[in-house]
Amino acid sequence: MSANQLVLDATALTAAGIGDKGPDDHAIASLGDSAKRALELTQARRTRGEIGFLDLPEDRGAARACMDFARSLDPDIDTVVTLGIGGSSLGPRALYSALGRPLDQLAQRSPGMPRRLFFPDNIDPITFGAIIERLPLDRVLWNVVTKSGGTAETCAQFLVVAAELDKRLGPERAKKHVVCTTDPQKGALRAIARERNYPAFDIPPNVGGRFSVLSPVGLLPAALAGLDVMGLLDGAARMRDRALVPDLATNPALLLATLLHHHHLVRGRPMHVMMSYVDGLYDTADWFRQLWAESLGKEKSADGRTINVGPTPIAARGATDQHSQLQLFAEGPDDKVFLLLAAADRGGEIKIPGGPLAESQAEFAYLAGHGMGELLDAELTGTMSSLVRRNRPVGKLTLAKVSAEAVGELLMLLEAATALAGPLYNVDPFDQPGVEEAKRLAFAALGRPGYEALALEMSKAPGPDPKYVL
Ligand code: PA5
Repeated sequence: MSANQLVLDATALTAAGIGDKGPDDHAIASLGDSAKRALELTQARRTRGEIGFLDLPEDRGAARACMDFARSLDPDIDTVVTLGIGGSSLGPRALYSALGRPLDQLAQRSPGMPRRLFFPDNIDPITFGAIIERLPLDRVLWNVVTKSGGTAETCAQFLVVAAELDKRLGPERAKKHVVCTTDPQKGALRAIARERNYPAFDIPPNVGGRFSVLSPVGLLPAALAGLDVMGLLDGAARMRDRALVPDLATNPALLLATLLHHHHLVRGRPMHVMMSYVDGLYDTADWFRQLWAESLGKEKSADGRTINVGPTPIAARGATDQHSQLQLFAEGPDDKVFLLLAAADRGGEIKIPGGPLAESQAEFAYLAGHGMGELLDAELTGTMSSLVRRNRPVGKLTLAKVSAEAVGELLMLLEAATALAGPLYNVDPFDQPGVEEAKRLAFAALGRPGYEALALEMSKAPGPDPKYVL
């Protein structure tokens, strides 16, 4: 078993880093019981088979099936487009951004090379139209992903693509350009996959969209892009084991969940900023935005009371957003907690050259001889210390390097912390009634049969008041 590849430094989330703006040792010890209770409740749901994400790292059969599929796919198919939204798209995109080669989509393809991936995610006709027009359809695999099997955006994307394939390649040839990932039994996509004989991968019934990155939802695109699928699962398994220890002193997921919850509900800091100082991990921060928001933002408590609770996650990029949001972060209201993402080894460096141009100006000269990565690390240190000097809570997550194992640890850490934060907030982190409601309202707005009553109700909402339409 390899050593841990991820370190959480929570010092500046506590009094040790930010004085009386954070909990001291005594206060943290007093949070231990509720933390243990959260872990017990999560474990009990796991034992009852209600939640499956913690066990995905053991499903090596699914991982091998994804890798076999990638190996056996026609080598002329060099491009994969995932048709899906939310958890069906954000997780695989985070993996590709972290572990794929930057700008991989622009690289000239040659046979045997890992495939390039695209994640349109949305249904804006201008973007989606460009995907259809610009990609060579005879070299594209369309990876249709939906757990429910009936999400409007994904169904619409698939219908558009299927019609285009039938028209341009003919129904027989079109078949080898589609693969599905969905519930093993239920839903419209499973029915279509059976009927049309498309290859299909399973999302375990007890794994919801935003917790599905380590199922074929993430593993199939990862395998198609030639990423280290087994390393990812090894890292995730290692972090999962750490995340199940009932001890705040050694369990990073439990400590993170407990401190973020404490800063929110006890110290009035509901804004949770994840700021990545590694470009490849920005999409992980974006994935976490969905995970944290959709899991913890709830109207009802787990016992059915109206509580309207939830933190607001914000994704940011260092150093870019130092020139955008940092002014607010440092000097605006003290209502935020920061998590900075870093890598001890970036995997590459560009040395900033000296010479007459650099030496001609003091503003340039001091940079010469340093590395761009070194500068980025210095910016991270600067941001961290500017926040800590003002006693703003900041945690740091450092990957030894941006490897599959380290990313597996990071994803599992954040999933486990989210699951454990659910009981702390007294909400069910695995449901999403607000999302389901918006889906039903969109069906009604589009005139879907069966939603007439809802459409009528919507039509009674007050329309625009001319007084306020300028
Ligand atoms: O986490 C979730 O459940 C959601 O964000 C879903 O991933 C999203 O709504 C897409 O749903 P589906 O995978 O059923 O198409």
